[in-house]
Amino acid sequence: MNPVRKATVLISGTGSNLQALIDAVASGRLDLDIVHVISNVADAPGLQRAERAGIRSSILEHGRFADRADFDAALALLMAADAPDLVILAGFMRIIGDAVLEPFAGRMINLHPALLPKYRGVNTYQRALDAGDDIHGASIHFVTAELDGGPVLSQVEIPILGDDDATTLAARLGPKEHELVVASVEFLTRHAVECGDGTIKIDGKPLATPYRLQADGTLGA
Ligand code: GAR
Repeated sequence: MNPVRKATVLISGTGSNLQALIDAVASGRLDLDIVHVISNVADAPGLQRAERAGIRSSILEHGRFADRADFDAALALLMAADAPDLVILAGFMRIIGDAVLEPFAGRMINLHPALLPKYRGVNTYQRALDAGDDIHGASIHFVTAELDGGPVLSQVEIPILGDDDATTLAARLGPKEHELVVASVEFLTRHAVECGDGTIKIDGKPLATPYRLQADGTLGA
């Protein structure tokens, strides 16, 4: 994948990470054209964020399709029409199937609220607390057929405090997720990144361990 210029963002809810991307474009930090926002939930508040920013948006309600494959086929068609360089899953709470994965392999990233490979799936905060972990965090990974199982590009860690519950942990991770998604997309606008065979190559070199969000808000080793 050449440095990214055009992106589509998929959402299901609040869209605070979409907003972080919109703000980073508006401030001039991100050289990115967000061409389309697609939600599978009709009343997702993130749709209003797209509208306020003048970004085209579409609603594709999964419940209106006969089955998962039909939904995936429609989503793939909608996505392909814009020919985005990158598709960003920012709180998109649907499992994506082959009809989408095949045409967009290596061009789709997902934000997940855990330090993958730990805690794929849901309830990541409570699972980290139940396990007695000292740290939690978020990951950006390339999307593959394995749920939350694709190669990880970048991560951010936060400490788990003694009095944390799932709500406080999620509230403290949120702003860090915003920073991580912006830093990661910025990185993809500046580097040639390939993802195939379970590995990520940056400017032709394999990435041995995921990048970390640095104090200056960029990705680093
Ligand atoms: C984020 O916390 C993101 O990590 C999570 O959904 C939230 C979306 O927030 N994603 C997943 O759980 C995906 N498995 P937002 O709608 O405010 O951007």
